[in-house]
Amino acid sequence: MSENRSVITLANLTREKIEYLLKMAAEFERHPNRRILEGKVVATLFFEPSTRTRLSFETAANRLGARVIGFADPKVTSGTKGESLKDTIKMVSNYADVIVMRHYLEGAALYASEVTDVPIINAGDGSNQHPSQTMLDMYSINKTQGTLDNLNIFLVGDLKYGRTVHSLLMAMRHFNPTFHFIAPKELEMPEEYKLYCHQNEIRFTEGTELNEDVIQEADILYMTRVQKERFTDLMEYERVKDAFILGADMLAKAKDNMKILHPLPRINEIKADVDDNPHAYYFQQAQNGLYAREALISDVLNYTLDDIINDHTIIQ
Ligand code: CP
Repeated sequence: MSENRSVITLANLTREKIEYLLKMAAEFERHPNRRILEGKVVATLFFEPSTRTRLSFETAANRLGARVIGFADPKVTSGTKGESLKDTIKMVSNYADVIVMRHYLEGAALYASEVTDVPIINAGDGSNQHPSQTMLDMYSINKTQGTLDNLNIFLVGDLKYGRTVHSLLMAMRHFNPTFHFIAPKELEMPEEYKLYCHQNEIRFTEGTELNEDVIQEADILYMTRVQKERFTDLMEYERVKDAFILGADMLAKAKDNMKILHPLPRINEIKADVDDNPHAYYFQQAQNGLYAREALISDVLNYTLDDIINDHTIIQ
């Protein structure tokens, strides 16, 4: 987090800080409805489509007693008249105590945090980072595995454009993971993230196959959607869009406690017959987003874990 407590990436957080936020999220899972943010205003500025991130941030703010302002469609803002992102952020800073922003440009959230003192929470910037997703992913991994340490994590699908995998990979550096990057050649993990792994002593392997024998090694199988909206060549998208399709028949050799995660939305990369399989965890994962986002909003507004443990505004 930068000095104004913005959350642009989790890569700069210590292990202790990540564990602290996870404890906070667990408190919110116990009691999601509290009034600790009464009088606060949360702005949600989404310059790209979203279902889960926007609605769970807005639910988080509402369940904590804050009010929400914002837009889900940038076409209805003065950006269409030519107003710059800088001016938009400066204006919204006059109204809100925290700004949750999703933008199609990589670096937009960092830029926004540099033009205002109001904390910015990055809700996804292009193919770069998605820290609140990573917080809920780590919460989900910890909850299902009982630890974040020493896990075999398979990242599958669009590793080139997928901001969730970039974000997760960086935040996991404290926990001695072994990553396995499974992607078609065209969508392999970019060099900058492999370099990050080398610099941070994160082990990784690379492969192009997803089958029973590969899956049997996994603690976490993290599936991703091929990000059609990031392709400049739609023919290339057509070539790779069906590269990996996970079906229930591929899970026979999986470890008992292996969990399948997916940031969602999914298109066809997980068949519907997986949804009721005990390894499937993606819908619960999305539910955990509420608790993780309650923690992030509270933290950027300077509420501590003690404040939350000792809070007496719980609404049953
Ligand atoms: N996982 C995620 O970011 O979903 P949305 O695009 O629906 O917010």
